[in-house]
Amino acid sequence: MNRGIVIQASDLTKFYGEILAVDHINFEVKKGVIFGFLGPNGAGKTTTIRILTGLSKPTTGTARVLDHDINTEIAEAKKHIGVVPELSNLYDELSAIDNLLFMARLYGIPRNQRRTRAEELLKTFGLYNRKDSLFSTLSRGMKRALTIAAALIHEPKILFLDEPTVGLDVVAARSLRALISNLREQGITVFLSTHYLEEADILCDRIAILVKGRIVAIDTPKMLKAETEEEPVIEFSIKGEVSKFVQGLSEKLPALKIMAAGHNRVRIYSGISTEIYNAAFTLAKAEGIEVESVNSIKPSLEDAFVKITGLSPTVMVTEKGGGR
Ligand SMILES: Nc1ncnc2c1ncn2[C@@H]1O[C@H](COP(=O)(O)OP(=O)(O)O)[C@@H](O)[C@H]1O
Ligand SMILES: [Mg+2]
Repeated sequence: MNRGIVIQASDLTKFYGEILAVDHINFEVKKGVIFGFLGPNGAGKTTTIRILTGLSKPTTGTARVLDHDINTEIAEAKKHIGVVPELSNLYDELSAIDNLLFMARLYGIPRNQRRTRAEELLKTFGLYNRKDSLFSTLSRGMKRALTIAAALIHEPKILFLDEPTVGLDVVAARSLRALISNLREQGITVFLSTHYLEEADILCDRIAILVKGRIVAIDTPKMLKAETEEEPVIEFSIKGEVSKFVQGLSEKLPALKIMAAGHNRVRIYSGISTEIYNAAFTLAKAEGIEVESVNSIKPSLEDAFVKITGLSPTVMVTEKGGGR
């Protein structure tokens, strides 16, 4: 593969019976980047990762991973990729270091190098002082970090991470993101799936937005946001019933996208400001709603997502529990 392309998907498609999980997707990932696969639950992120890492076969189409065709040469590709699945594949009853040593053996790392490599990774991931703790006794964040360390044991060129921060608290998620960011400095290409808009924005060099198995946009976070830039996003903070305000505005401005953003805020995407102000203040007066403030806000990736997909951003924000 020339031009430093490490993953190239061509019309990749996966049916589970009647369900079309991945629908003719095409994309390229350049060496050394963090590539984000952003989409709501059920979009096809895990299915794509499973196909690219040889755990599942595409129904049609193919992909090249490190210049190996996944349909015919997956074993060769597998030697140089690491995978961190949604649920950890490590052993509860083994210590942190024993998990890594076990992985090292699976990957055929020579016996005399295993311990050095394992200890090095434990240090990088801030887990050295917990090396003898059983996996089951580590915190969620530590478990996730160790699972990533284990996937790096054979020094892969590409690391696939499937929703790495799901179920972590804010602090653990942040520290994990820093670790992921560091991988790029080491020249490792990261393919990361997420349903957190902010995470994709912070971490990724490029983002593919996946909805119902299809890629609806693919670009840098900056360019994705620029799509909404010419058009202002106007945000009203109100005292009163947000749903009533949204409904009333939708009737007055049927062509515009109007959404509740939090319990007392309403966002209006694009449109002529004076028209929006007129409609909003007339409505507020009629309904006895107090407008506390109006802001023209800088578009976030969330705004771009709404515009590109037509989906409510709430589909991307699910509860943070679960996972391990
Ligand atoms: N093993 C399976 N059998 C049947 N349907 C599946 C299977 N795995 C995933 N699906 C379906 O394929 C679609 C994509 O799922 P998935 O790739 O897990 O999405 P994501 O990871 O983005 O949440 C969903 O509709 C899901 O229900
Ligand atoms: Mg998934």
